[in-house]
Amino acid sequence: MTLPFHVRIEDLKLRGRELRNPGLHISVPAGESGKAFFLETFGCQMNDHDSEKVAGLLLSLGYRQVETPEAASLILYNTCSIREKAAQKVFSRLGEYREKQSEGKVIGVLGCVAQQEGEDIFKRAPWVSLVCGSASYSKLPEMIAQLEAGMQRVTGLDTDTDETFETEVTRRDNPWRAYLTIIEGCDKACTYCVVPFTRGPERSRASDSILREVRQLAELGYSEVQLLGQTVNSYADPTARRMRFSELLMAVAEVRGIRRVRFTTSHPSDFTPDIVEAIEREPKICDHVHLPVQSGSTRVLRAMQRTYSREEYLDKIALMRGANRPIGITTDIIVGFPGETEPEFEETLSLLEEVQYDSLFSFKYSPRPNTPSLSMSDSISEEEKSRRLAILQDKQREIQAAKNATLVGERFEVLVSGKSRRENQWSGYTTAHRMINFASQERELLGTYVQVRVTGAGPNSLLGEHAV
Ligand code: 5AD
Ligand code: SF4
Repeated sequence: MTLPFHVRIEDLKLRGRELRNPGLHISVPAGESGKAFFLETFGCQMNDHDSEKVAGLLLSLGYRQVETPEAASLILYNTCSIREKAAQKVFSRLGEYREKQSEGKVIGVLGCVAQQEGEDIFKRAPWVSLVCGSASYSKLPEMIAQLEAGMQRVTGLDTDTDETFETEVTRRDNPWRAYLTIIEGCDKACTYCVVPFTRGPERSRASDSILREVRQLAELGYSEVQLLGQTVNSYADPTARRMRFSELLMAVAEVRGIRRVRFTTSHPSDFTPDIVEAIEREPKICDHVHLPVQSGSTRVLRAMQRTYSREEYLDKIALMRGANRPIGITTDIIVGFPGETEPEFEETLSLLEEVQYDSLFSFKYSPRPNTPSLSMSDSISEEEKSRRLAILQDKQREIQAAKNATLVGERFEVLVSGKSRRENQWSGYTTAHRMINFASQERELLGTYVQVRVTGAGPNSLLGEHAV
């Protein structure tokens, strides 16, 4: 049989040895063979980080990572389906890849659209050979081996798993901040959300394995880690230590070399006082909490099945506002959920007024396949959703502009992560995750921590100067 693909089983023989379990083989320097992958990622930080792990895995299988689909033998597309627009983009992008298959390249779809559409992807885009959801990534080495052996179509669509995806090698994109997933999937059942279907049930990673990775990251020179999960604070340590999320935060902060610990996304129902106490006790735990509220109306929250009322949410905010150091708070909002009345939308506006968020992500409700809210009546027109979104964003812009203006004159520690093309201009984040653009005469600051004095403020960022 002639192999239709560029990558062949022979390529698995590296340095004259056959890899029996390619997934366990990590010591082969990447790029020795002609195998090369191109990986494009859409969606959230979880997807970005999944891609870093998939890239690490492929490197350990002897692939090189390349910057263009043209240079690749394997083209992978890690997809997002949280809103309709994101999912639509996948098929138009796959259309662009169509002729690549005839050039002998293997094309694969990973992530949430892969999970959601499953084998239907082969019908809509027959040039695709691999469809794999995030709950099956640990089977990728086998699947890649099958493709290399000439199989035309392979799938990984099982979500019924208690495994987490751990790789020996992770190809991190961000040189300053290391992402680290501590909990996968989601057991909440918000009525608008595809995540429980696309990422499967909640699985927490063992605390000792997390801490081992943090120690490795510190040795590699990372000083900032960000713990990730759809509901990161629902973390439930599967080991006998039964570490609470707040204990894990403290333990990560205690690792030598770690200077900043971030975590996202927190679910309000699992946001307990001990998390705030940990932030109070340990300055390395960043003073920033992303706490999506989604709506300011208890009636809408119930319809969304968010498991808290407006008042209960505000109690969590009060916990943070009562802390012994200021905590930056950000959120997610959905406007135009089915049946959301004008007064209910105004309750969301009054919540913004009350909480004074540092920033927020806002979305028009997007009906998604398989979700309970799909069949709810009283849908809101696109026009009305757009109107509400614009009002909400205007209000938040005013709040942010006023809040940021009060910071002029203050000093913050900034981890420098950007260098502008303009001379002597740098950028970075404070621990509360505020972006600061600042001037400094220093020659090299990237990756260092500096003190910056705020000299100006806009709604989305601060201006400053290096304070020595
Ligand atoms: N429509 C609009 N926004 C959504 N989100 C999740 N599902 C939907 C949907 N169907 C938003 C929520 C969530 C964020 C990641 O995306 O606000 O917190
Ligand atoms: Fe989706 Fe709700 Fe889970 Fe967040 S908590 S991922 S919104 S189901």
